[in-house]
Amino acid sequence: MQGAEPGLGGGLIRFSRSRLRIIVTVGGAVFWGWDGAEPHPSYALAGSCPEPDPRAVLEPDKDGGWRVVAERVTIVISRHGAVEICTPGGVVLRRDLPPRWWEPVGGGAARWMQRSEVAADARFFGLGGRASGPRLRDGTYRLWNTDPGRAFGPGEDPLYLTMPVQLVVADAGTHLVFHDNTWDGAVVLREGVEGAGSGHDRAGHCAVRMDGGPLRCWVMVGTPARVLHLWASLTGAPALPPAWALGHHHARWGFGSEQEVRRIIAGYQERGLPLDAVHLDIDHYDDHQVFTVDQERFPKLPLLAEELRREGVRLVSIVDPAVRATPGNAVYDSGSAVDAFVRDASGRTVRGVVWAGESVFPDFTHARVRKWWGGLYEERLEQGFAGFWHDMNEPTSFNAFGEPTLPRSARHALEGRGGDHREAHNVYGLCMARAGYEGVRELSPQERPFLFSRSGWAGMQRYGGTWSGDVATGWPGLRASLSLVLGLGLCGVPYSGPDVGGFDGSPTPELYLRWFQLGSYLPLFRTHASLRAGRREPWEFGAEVLEHARAALLERRRLLPYFVTLAQLARRTGAPYVRPLWWGAPEDRALRDCEDAFLLGDGLLVAPVLDPGADRRAVQLPRGRWYDTVTEEAYEGPAQVLLDAPLSRTPVLARGGAVIPVRGARGGLELEVWAPARGRTGGGLVVADAGDGGEEPEIERFVARRQGRRVVVTREREDGPGESPYPVRVRGLD
Ligand code: GLC
Repeated sequence: MQGAEPGLGGGLIRFSRSRLRIIVTVGGAVFWGWDGAEPHPSYALAGSCPEPDPRAVLEPDKDGGWRVVAERVTIVISRHGAVEICTPGGVVLRRDLPPRWWEPVGGGAARWMQRSEVAADARFFGLGGRASGPRLRDGTYRLWNTDPGRAFGPGEDPLYLTMPVQLVVADAGTHLVFHDNTWDGAVVLREGVEGAGSGHDRAGHCAVRMDGGPLRCWVMVGTPARVLHLWASLTGAPALPPAWALGHHHARWGFGSEQEVRRIIAGYQERGLPLDAVHLDIDHYDDHQVFTVDQERFPKLPLLAEELRREGVRLVSIVDPAVRATPGNAVYDSGSAVDAFVRDASGRTVRGVVWAGESVFPDFTHARVRKWWGGLYEERLEQGFAGFWHDMNEPTSFNAFGEPTLPRSARHALEGRGGDHREAHNVYGLCMARAGYEGVRELSPQERPFLFSRSGWAGMQRYGGTWSGDVATGWPGLRASLSLVLGLGLCGVPYSGPDVGGFDGSPTPELYLRWFQLGSYLPLFRTHASLRAGRREPWEFGAEVLEHARAALLERRRLLPYFVTLAQLARRTGAPYVRPLWWGAPEDRALRDCEDAFLLGDGLLVAPVLDPGADRRAVQLPRGRWYDTVTEEAYEGPAQVLLDAPLSRTPVLARGGAVIPVRGARGGLELEVWAPARGRTGGGLVVADAGDGGEEPEIERFVARRQGRRVVVTREREDGPGESPYPVRVRGLD
């Protein structure tokens, strides 16, 4: 270290061979960048960099180091360039050792590595969509969005959606760390070991290694809720799905014809099974070309869409980025006219092979290309589609270049800076989502765009959600699909869900049902399968499965107001709908290691059955009273309890005092209130949202109080408490 210059929110520290910029923002997020790296340009940030906190000051520390003292965090910089993130009380949450660079002799992108230490008890989560989580155990996690090319299980890494975002939970505190760098890289994690009285603690280790790009980092500390809130303020509020997108979706690769689509929908209706959306896969396109329709098999799509909409079923269209490279193909011609397609260094368009055959790829890192692409959704809207499912956007090309994506030398605009695929690859799906989202919003401003995307990156929640991709049919795949949803939620992407039943093969009736039951409590609840896979309609697995699947669908519909509220809260606070059990108690070690259950909002705890043959399961309860929602039996946490889990249901517990908005028998909103324990109060938030894109509805706050043998529920307003405007049903009263 040679010197330091204080600046707003921190300052600049000079070393003999490098310099370090530190900024603490008003909200308490910490940025640091080495060697001139600044917060911008960034694909993750939602807008301009948040204001620096003028109260954060750079001051000399012991041993010739410096420190920045802010309200909720202290950053200590050693003489050699180690950076420590500490709580205000001085406990170290993360120690970054001095980084290392490797600079090519002839110039060009320098590779770098950042090694860090965390507490011995710390657990790692996040890194985007990982099949082997949610707790990320020792191993190497690659940062390169990848279509594995086959249905995947828990051992597959990386998958379609990676992110250099880690959430680290330890006794001393929770922190989120984001290396804002889109290049190829890897994160090596090693959990620590506690001495437990018979030896030293061994710290947890993390090494981030990138093949180029800036060495810069954001860190947020606090409770999980605060950390996710800060993350959402930095990278953008999650898009609000329309209410119908919180219902049940049925998809299939290979419906084949309008008649088949009608037959499936009639199948749902005849059996009294709620259905909100049907997804059309690539087989409805003319020869697989995106933004076309096979007129023979789907001759009257707009009419079909209109009819279905009247019955409450929306049509969703798959959209793949690749464009068949044939002159005369309208999408190819219009794209060529605006010079939309990725070229190589010699100026030739890069050709790959995807479903439609030899194809070219729009360069979504160019504003002009996004604008052109966004306009193409007009054709989809005219066909009557209400939502969009982005696929193959890692981008995938079938092994044309030695790996299933574009060659690394392919050129990209990168918003005018210029660069190659090494830098653009990981944000290809993100930029495509932006193009689609902005296009649809402009074409149809009165409705909320509904979009979800297989690939993406930090910040994609601004445009929509994702799904788990081609998860393998089997019990391990079922577990992996929960891992993905939990991990993505902790990276700021709250809306996702798996292909219920798995993508390939044929699930046993039991597996199908368990998957269906899990899916019914996840934000995106969709059955889907491959062309060659067995059926996935709930009536294809026998009368018993049908009956229980119907119960799951009806319960989902009953909980719709709760899902709508969770979507609104996710938008306003960044909190995912689906949260790990430790969300409210990260210091609880037993909860930190529990990976097979989750909280749905504040009120419910869902313990899905993830093993064959099980008819009971153990559940780890957080502190407080919990009611089995079927038997109304009360349990006191923290504890481990054994719950019945017959085929007919997933164990779900309600928190004592929870106020949960549900759909009443006549369709109106009602409050289901779970009695608080004696001497305690409870409460909950409700956002009664029409779900169509209208005005921003208010958050209503309810309090539940125990008065002797009764429970009284009031709505709290600025002018004092009042009666609930919704019917109240109290449960769990002994
Ligand atoms: C990919 C998608 C899958 C889709 C298929 C055909 O495998 O992940 O969901 O059905 O392509 O479009």
